[in-house]
Amino acid sequence: MDLPTLQLLLEDLPLGAVDYSPVLDSTNARAQRWISSGASHLSLVVADEQTAGRGRNGRIWLTPPGSAIAFSLILLPEVNNPISIPYLSPLGALAVCESLQSMYDLPALIKWPNDILLFGEKAAGILVETEWQGEQFHSAVLGIGINVAPGSVPEPSEINFPATCVEGALGRSVDRWALMKGVIERVIKRLQDFDQQKFLQAWEDKLAFTGETVQLLRKDEQPIIGQLEGLMRDGSLRLLLPNGKVLSVRAGEIHLRAVDS
Ligand code: ATP
Ligand code: BTN
Repeated sequence: MDLPTLQLLLEDLPLGAVDYSPVLDSTNARAQRWISSGASHLSLVVADEQTAGRGRNGRIWLTPPGSAIAFSLILLPEVNNPISIPYLSPLGALAVCESLQSMYDLPALIKWPNDILLFGEKAAGILVETEWQGEQFHSAVLGIGINVAPGSVPEPSEINFPATCVEGALGRSVDRWALMKGVIERVIKRLQDFDQQKFLQAWEDKLAFTGETVQLLRKDEQPIIGQLEGLMRDGSLRLLLPNGKVLSVRAGEIHLRAVDS
């Protein structure tokens, strides 16, 4: 890939400027630097390889060359956007799931809050990083990483949850740039036509482990075990506890796992 080819591929999308690098530390980090030097709304940073890809809470996201998708979309408050910030991460996850479903008929699901699973294994992740000036929203970077070819799947010793890739799940090769375009297109469409109720329904329809018993692992605390019922109106996870009470869980430093019965 090179910048002119990428610009041509994406020319029918209403993006700001487009930036492409064969290697970057992290597309999110590059996007943040670009915001500081005056990037416009919906500018896009793409890299073939990341050397310091970021996951949630300081964890790492591995992106070896030639095999994955790594991009970050810059969102600024200039354009009056009714979406609330906590929905950006699931909106990205939903766009990935819907693209995999409609482009390749793959039954992708969202492991709440931000991972995309294919047949129970992690194939993609979303990282939204926001900047505020006091109470005022300044900018957000919506970063999406997708494992496409087998070379993108980390060794089991490098990860804390089984990983897979799109081509592995599909059994054939995939044009990763076409997939990236499909995802960006859906992100922008969902942002522009944002309807909270429809969005929550679409997100809930794609939730992994619905109706199953799951455990929520929290650092230094006992796991919470319950049946995953769905989402609350604010996007919190709704769990039915063994004592019959319903617990609402906000995204945070929490890891969701299935419980094998
Ligand atoms: P958990 O998966 O335990 O719920 P998490 O989803 O919060 O945690 P994230 O921060 O979302 O974890 O993802 C980062 C983690 O993903 C890393 O700690 C590593 O285990 C794993 N990881 C890193 N690179 C990849 C990759 N390319 N594919 C799949 N998993 C990866
Ligand atoms: C996660 O599952 O923790 C989220 C991983 C997000 C990875 C993407 S790859 C593109 C963008 N740049 C980064 O450094 N991280 C995100």
